[in-house]
Amino acid sequence: MSTQTNTKHKVTIRRLAEMKQAKEKIACLTAYDASFAQLLEKTGVDVVLVGDSLGMVIQGEETTLPVSVEDMLYHTQCVAKGLTNALLITDMPFLSFTSEEEAVLNAGLFMKQGGAHMVKLEGGVDQVDTVAALNKNGIPVCAHLGLQPQYVHKIGGYRVQGRDAAAADKMLKDAITLQDAGADLMLLECVPESLAAKITDALDIPVIGIGAGTNCDGQILVLYDILDISLGIRPKFSKNFMAASNSIEEAIQQYVSAVKNAEFPAVEHVFS
Ligand code: KIV
Repeated sequence: MSTQTNTKHKVTIRRLAEMKQAKEKIACLTAYDASFAQLLEKTGVDVVLVGDSLGMVIQGEETTLPVSVEDMLYHTQCVAKGLTNALLITDMPFLSFTSEEEAVLNAGLFMKQGGAHMVKLEGGVDQVDTVAALNKNGIPVCAHLGLQPQYVHKIGGYRVQGRDAAAADKMLKDAITLQDAGADLMLLECVPESLAAKITDALDIPVIGIGAGTNCDGQILVLYDILDISLGIRPKFSKNFMAASNSIEEAIQQYVSAVKNAEFPAVEHVFS
């Protein structure tokens, strides 16, 4: 293991808010284990998400639905051991927040036993009471709008969200409502660039995009997609950073630089 000394300051919610104000792009990636977490830390990633995408990229499942609270806790504990400065977010898996009590208990587990600094949950205005309950109990929340993979069977596949005027209007209203309920961060997945820009402008909290265009305050991708080792087809909004790199570390470094310099996403990664 590397013994490199890291002199960067810890990333906090306050720091992310300052970055939004200063128009400094926030570089985020997923991770599922300590070795990759340490590499992400070394390359200056600001936010690390233990995503329930682990169901697909680690467990080989077709969707994120089978992922359990125990799976998320285990991988959060692994990732936390590799991090020093990055903010660590853990996804609330499918059906782990069906009531406010259940949400607080499971999120509390990720923070108390896992070392997470924040939890992320999918859902629009229907989750507003849950976000408020988490907020009331001192649990930072990243809300997740746009394409919500836990709803894949409800929406009938993975597709861009918010393309028609009514859906776009609802997403903007949901985002503001979730912020007002106490969300500290917003993630937008597969959203037309113009709508993501509108939501980013309307919110005080930072907005992180994945397939949501260039105007978000930060970007996130699935680590295994940028390393070109994911099972299946890499989505349009992602990029293989291994193609022009000599090592995994260099590929991650290139991703971080591309986000920071607003070179990623490029036009070919954006939805209109
Ligand atoms: O689970 C995950 O990795 C995610 C990202 C796609 C943002 O939610």
